[in-house]
Amino acid sequence: MAFKGGFLAILLMLCMTQECRGLSRGSFPDGFVFGTASSSYQYEGAVDDDGRGPTVWDKFAHSFGKVIDFSNADVAVDQYHLFEEDVQLMADMGMDAYRFSIAWSRIFPNGTGKVNQAGIDYYNKLINALLAKGIKPYVTLFHWDLPQALEDKYNGWLSPHIINDYAIYAEECFKAFGDRVKYWITFNEPHTMSIQGYDVGLEAPGHCSILLHLFCRGGNSATEPYMVAHNILLSHATAVDVYKRKYKAVQHGFVGISLDVTWFEPISNSTEDSAAVQRALDFQFGWFMDPIFFGDYPSSMRERVGNRLPKFSASDSSRVKGSLDFVGINHYTTYYIKANSTNIIGVLLNDTLADSGTISLPFKNFKPIGDKASSIWLYIVPSGMRSLMNYIKQKYGKPIVIVTENGMDDSNNPFISINDALKDEKRIGYHNDYLGNLSAAIREDACNVQGYFVWSLLDNWEWAAGYTSRFGLYFVDYNNNLKRYPKDSVQWFKNLLS
Ligand SMILES: *[C@@H]1O[C@H](CO)[C@@H](O)[C@H](O)[C@H]1NC(C)=O
Ligand SMILES: *[C@@H]1O[C@H](CO)[C@@H](O)[C@H](O)[C@H]1NC(C)=O
Ligand SMILES: *[C@@H]1O[C@H](CO)[C@@H](O)[C@H](O)[C@H]1NC(C)=O
Ligand SMILES: *[C@@H]1O[C@H](CO)[C@@H](O)[C@H](O)[C@H]1NC(C)=O
Ligand SMILES: *[C@@H]1O[C@H](CO)[C@@H](O)[C@H](O)[C@H]1NC(C)=O
Repeated sequence: MAFKGGFLAILLMLCMTQECRGLSRGSFPDGFVFGTASSSYQYEGAVDDDGRGPTVWDKFAHSFGKVIDFSNADVAVDQYHLFEEDVQLMADMGMDAYRFSIAWSRIFPNGTGKVNQAGIDYYNKLINALLAKGIKPYVTLFHWDLPQALEDKYNGWLSPHIINDYAIYAEECFKAFGDRVKYWITFNEPHTMSIQGYDVGLEAPGHCSILLHLFCRGGNSATEPYMVAHNILLSHATAVDVYKRKYKAVQHGFVGISLDVTWFEPISNSTEDSAAVQRALDFQFGWFMDPIFFGDYPSSMRERVGNRLPKFSASDSSRVKGSLDFVGINHYTTYYIKANSTNIIGVLLNDTLADSGTISLPFKNFKPIGDKASSIWLYIVPSGMRSLMNYIKQKYGKPIVIVTENGMDDSNNPFISINDALKDEKRIGYHNDYLGNLSAAIREDACNVQGYFVWSLLDNWEWAAGYTSRFGLYFVDYNNNLKRYPKDSVQWFKNLLS
């Protein structure tokens, strides 16, 4: 009997875990928010409609050789015209929220000056359509599509002039939409934008100086990424300050920022490699988190970058410190980190990577760190989610976290039928295991995570990868009027959320 009782108890204990029950809403705290995510330039299309001004991404995408399939996002997945149908797709899945971004150049076509009422009208229609279906809008104010006018006028993010213009734009959005929008994200992935746009030059505006200016004529990879990041931090803090002083008491909303974070594992147990993991985190995540939580850049960056790293004045530091209600995390993958052991990288690159003195690798002894998705950078390592959530809790004192992006892509394979493309078991496994680890981080490790957004609702235009990459829960048929079809993962989320 005793044995039998023990056996039953063990069975019961196993059934408390996800392996037995499978994931459900009950695996997450009450009020935990599930949503899907998108961005204006990757989704909207309609680039010339209703007075929208051109952006740096329009120019970049239309420059020869910048996008792998020679595409651009002039049409994208045309959410500008199809938003009502898309809101219904979210409602069909039982999603609680939708994260989308506002295109600055629809509100201010020239970046500053006169407001374009037609732009305000479009986002009002989208927000109202969401709320009519019980879906909460989570609004990103800047997801990389800078008005070209500001790039032409003063080099965009390289200039401190951007701070005031960004704050005016943000305030216009708080004023117009804040009666209904309660979650604001000031910036999407400032780290990726600084690196891809100003260090390696693979994204707009395409500045770099690495490899002796082989790929870009303009730019300085040793200085510009740090200047851009600094102006973004000051713009973020200024907009948050405006919200706190003038809108929060009336609108009762929350403001955060979405940071991209790759988790890192040391490639060996050597002290050099462990120290390199910390440096890699500092140069990616601490770059933004430390000023916001502690008022200055990580000491590893101060030491290694020296006077190329901008300094915060005392008043800037106190404005940046504490300037958020929640931390948005865009997390997809994990890499190994190896300490730099030669100085070749420093001479050839002379950039942020050389400064960090780290090398990130998806392989150890020729074995990949996880199964690969379609994108060359995306290896599937679900335990990285739990490790990352614990790191945030420990280092930054248990802030509120919202996972604002997590997902994987399949390739856009012209040789398979739509029916076969809808069978996305790999994506289901990805979300099951990443969500399982997120649930464990919350329940077992007491991490303070309050929401999860899938990247992405639909297949869409993936920046320099164009239409070659499919991140959607819904398949988009680019050959037939952008018709949307549910992949199997849609049913999986429907079950999870019911
Ligand atoms: C934007 O700038 C252009 C050129 O200076 C001007 O013609 C246009 O009226 C401006 N548009 C708005 C909405 O301010
Ligand atoms: C580090 O050491 C531990 C314990 O000796 C071992 O289990 C682990 O595999 C080692 N990790 C690496 C990356 O070598
Ligand atoms: C790296 O770039 C900085 C900034 O332009 C410059 O001052 C420095 O001399 C460069 N270092 C090397 C090794 O080229
Ligand atoms: C890389 O390592 C070499 C040798 O240890 C060292 O001289 C160099 O300063 C390091 N470079 C960086 C950028 O950390
Ligand atoms: C966490 O991820 C690992 C793989 O990285 C997986 O084996 C494990 O089942 C996941 N844990 C949960 C609770 O889902």
